[in-house]
Amino acid sequence: MSAAVVARLRAAGCVFAEDEAALLLEAGGDLDALVDRRVAGEPLEQVLGWAEFCGLRFAVAPGVFVPRQRTRLLVREAAALARPGSVVLDLCCGTGAVGVAVAAAVGAVELHAADVDPVAVDCARRNGAGSVYGGDLYEALPAALRGRVDVLVANAPYVPTGAIALMPPEARDHEALAALDGGDDGLDVQRRVAEGAPDWLFPGGWLLIETSGAQAPATVAAMTRAGLTARVVADEELAGTVVAGQLPTA
Ligand SMILES: C[S@@+](CC[C@H](N)C(=O)[O-])C[C@H]1O[C@@H](n2cnc3c(N)ncnc32)[C@H](O)[C@@H]1O
Repeated sequence: MSAAVVARLRAAGCVFAEDEAALLLEAGGDLDALVDRRVAGEPLEQVLGWAEFCGLRFAVAPGVFVPRQRTRLLVREAAALARPGSVVLDLCCGTGAVGVAVAAAVGAVELHAADVDPVAVDCARRNGAGSVYGGDLYEALPAALRGRVDVLVANAPYVPTGAIALMPPEARDHEALAALDGGDDGLDVQRRVAEGAPDWLFPGGWLLIETSGAQAPATVAAMTRAGLTARVVADEELAGTVVAGQLPTA
């Protein structure tokens, strides 16, 4: 391990400088260029080109949202509801990590994923996120999927616009604004996801949305307005919150 690399990373504020140095060395290529990018504040995962999530490795291109550990709760809840053969849709898929991790946990599901960002769509395809579509929420999807989805997962952007400036620079300067910004109260995209879900869910199917503890009541309200029966699931250890809503069977 190069002491000089560790020293540069530490001086730049990297808490796990030794671990990061080892990963950057392992990555191969132009080490100085990689360290320069990291020292300039780019997320480690974007510099390496991959992120670990749920024990799997996912390609992450510059600008694409890096999967967060709290999102393991969304995977866990979705995997508990899906069965082999279920139709699973990962809306706002980013790298596709959520859908792929659900599929890995459940077995052979029919996986679909969609994102508005073409760079994310490319990542999700490289990560094997099933059939991957590009476009605005449900507009991206083939009509044949309508009414067939058993489990719809969405980690849509939910940061209120005014809070973006308070995010760590790694996020606000290096992840696409569209991956973070959820509008005035953070729920603009979630509300559209909830409103559209009944058209795409199979009767009895589930919509699961990652949210924050503070925003959960508004996420529940959006699902209730859409005709779903919703409940909140929180996990303190993961610092994660998910709202799960079910479409009535009849
Ligand atoms: C918070 S990131 C989550 C990515 C991924 N699901 C994850 O958990 O790692 C939100 C994603 O939603 C996508 N997105 C934002 N608005 C969208 C829209 N109107 N239609 C489709 N995708 C959208 C962004 O491009 C971004 O990839």
